[in-house]
This record gives sequence, structure tokens and C-alpha cells, in this order.
Amino acid sequence: MRPFPSDRNYQDWLADTRSCFDPDTLLHAAEVEQHKVSGSDSPHGRPGAASRVFKLTTTGRQIWAVKCYTTADPDRADRYRHITEELARRPANWTVDCAYHARGIKGWDGNWWPVLLMPWVGGVPLLTWLGSNADNSLAVERCRRDFAVTIHNMHKRQIAHGDLQPGNVIVEAGDRLRLIDYDGMYVPGLDHLPLRQSGMPGFQHPGWAAAGKLCAFMDRFPGRLIHLSLLAIAREPIVWQELHVDGSDSLLLEADDLKKPETSERIKRLRRVADPDVQEELAQLCADLREPDDFHSIPVLSKRFRKPPADAGLPPILPEVSPVAPEVAAPITVTIPAPAPAPVTGRVPASWVYRSTTPERKETVVRTWQLETQSPFRRRLRVIALTSALIVGLLVCLLITIIYVA
Ligand SMILES: Nc1ncnc2c1ncn2[C@@H]1O[C@H](COP(=O)(O)OP(=O)(O)O)[C@@H](O)[C@H]1O
Ligand SMILES: [Mg+2]
Repeated sequence: MRPFPSDRNYQDWLADTRSCFDPDTLLHAAEVEQHKVSGSDSPHGRPGAASRVFKLTTTGRQIWAVKCYTTADPDRADRYRHITEELARRPANWTVDCAYHARGIKGWDGNWWPVLLMPWVGGVPLLTWLGSNADNSLAVERCRRDFAVTIHNMHKRQIAHGDLQPGNVIVEAGDRLRLIDYDGMYVPGLDHLPLRQSGMPGFQHPGWAAAGKLCAFMDRFPGRLIHLSLLAIAREPIVWQELHVDGSDSLLLEADDLKKPETSERIKRLRRVADPDVQEELAQLCADLREPDDFHSIPVLSKRFRKPPADAGLPPILPEVSPVAPEVAAPITVTIPAPAPAPVTGRVPASWVYRSTTPERKETVVRTWQLETQSPFRRRLRVIALTSALIVGLLVCLLITIIYVA
């Protein structure tokens, strides 16, 4: 197998989006967010363990997150086929549509590489948001409750994110949460795949890296940990100032606190928060940490956390679906022929990323994409249906000929 492109390769290729994207895609000729490298502009790729994410604005002024991978994962296409089908079938407030495209970006040598596309979620990562809102109890309470509702929605649907940590939680207007980064996600039907990433250590049970597996209960521990942190901040905001370490990816507890809860000063401090909910959740977290690898028995978050406390003055839970439409960038002054906006409203049609140069060309491209992303079962069904239609057609022709001759 060819080695995957490096960060540098993607930066070079994305400097010319007319060459690296198919002319029939929305990304062709899109603007890439830039940053300064040694004094000159260069495409800004947000770093990750196995990818770079670039922010692109199309000629129609829609903003997309384009994830370019730097390492191979033989299951990626299969995984995303299941994930996109599941999320498109039942979008929820926490979901963002996504599309994996095996022939996404073209290198200078003419080879194509996969990309994952998502509408860009306007908002700020949870950690950054807490940096400026931790003392606003009502806002943190809203956020906490949205998180609890999200955890329940995923639990009900047997979905697990697989890398629940604040960098993958975006806070939108109204203190609503969206989850991004579905590379480690479990959805029903993925039991045959191995666990390819074990999440951020500061948010995982210390035994998870060695004994975890891809399954519906992957989020139990990180879900409870993040919820406990939001709960403690909402009920006693000063804990953020006292326990959060500047520059750390963790919220209130660091990886070491999870490894040695008995001697942890931070856990000791949390025991002094005068709130029965915090104490109950903290006791459960400590009990979970005493079990070395019995992840099944970590209970799902209590349903009562979906409700706001009676005196919080929060509105009732919003309806479950509010899809992300790609953010629209501020208009620019030069006139650009604007293609029709991509119809990203909940369900993702196969053609969402394509615009047509000619109707025939568009159909070919969309058909190729559909074949790439359809499940083998559906593909087989399609072949059977087409073959049957052909046979029936031939029989009808034969019958007409016989009747005509007779
Ligand atoms: N759809 C999106 N909307 C807004 N920002 C995004 C989106 N996808 C990724 N990002 C940004 O890019 C960063 C890295 O993306 P992510 O998918 O989390 O990659 P990794 O798997 O490397 O962690 C995120 O932390 C976020 O800042
Ligand atoms: Mg991430």
C-alpha cells in the first residue's frame, strides 16, 4: 500500500483547490483558511493524531470542514458507510452530517486520497467556551443538560462516539452542543471492527486502552466524567479556577487523578462541593475507577439529569432534530457565479457535495459516489433488481414478437 500523504503534502495540494478537487465538486476552487508560516500564507490544517482538518469556503460562500488523513485505516470506508447511513437516517441535535469520499483529493502525482466532509460547525470547542463562561452557572447548566440529553439520545440508539473529550464537543449559539470527529464512532452493525483509537487518556478509564473494544458502551466512562465536571462547575463555579490546569486538555480531573483516585487532591476538593448531585456522581465515578476493566457495569447517566433543576429557569428540552446547514461566510465584494446551495438539511443526499457542469456528468459522478458508499447488500440488491428488469423487458419483447408473428 502507498504511504499516506503527509501534512505538508496536503498543505501544498490545497494551495490550488482548482487542481486538487474534482471540477464537479463544491470544493473545486474553494478558498482555504490560511495562516502564516515563516511570514507567508499557507493552508491552515488543524492538527490531529491521524489527520489534518482544513476549513474551506466554497464559491457559493458555504463553509466546510475537510478532513485529510495522514495514516491508513483499512476499515475507514466501511466504518463511515455505516456511520453516515445511521446519522442521515435519524439526525439529532448533536449530529453533523458527514460524507466520506474515497476519491476526495488529488495529489500532484495524480493519485486520489480520501477525505471526510462535514458542514463547518460555527461555535467554539467546549474547553475554550468554559474559559470564558465557567462563572455563568446558568449557561453551564444549559450546556450540562444538553450534554446529558445527548448521552441519552446516543444510548437509546446504541451509538457511542468513541472519543468523547472537549475538543470534539462544539458549543453553538444558545449553549447547544454538537459532537464532531466520528473516526472512532460505534453504530449498530460495526461489531465486526476492531477498536482503532482508544480516546484521550484524561477522559478514559485507565483500563480502557488495554481492554476496550468497539461497542455501544464506549462512552459510559468519559460521558460520566464530562457530565460530572460540568455539573460541578455549574453548581460551584469556583472549582474551574481551582482545578482546571491552564493549557491542559482536561476539564477538572487529569489522567493522574483517574489513575490514583485515593490520593488525588482534585478529587478531595470535589468531595467538598456542597451539592448532593455532584457527590452522588463523584461517588459513582470513584466506584467505576475501582473496577479495573468491568466497563459493562458502568451505569448510564441517570435520566433525571435530562431535566433542569426546578429553580434553574431553563426552557424545556428542544425537539430532537436541528440539522447543521453549512455556515455561510460573509459575502465578498467581487461577483461570483453562485451555484445552488447544497441541500444539507438533515438527511444527506448522495449528491450533496456535487454541482453539475452538465447534467450527464453530474449523474456519472453521483452514481460513482453512490456505488462507493452503498453497502454491499444494497449494491447486490440493485444489481438483482436491474437484471430482473432486463429479463422481464426481454420476455415482454419476445412475447410481443411472438404475438405479432402469430
Ligand atoms: N465540522 C467541524 N466544524 C468545526 N470545526 C471542526 C469540524 N471538524 C473538525 N473541526 C476542527 O478541527 C479539529 C480537528 O478535527 P477532528 O475531527 O477532531 O480531528 P482529530 O481526529 O484529528 O481529532 C477539531 O478540534 C475542530 O477544531
Ligand atoms: Mg478530535
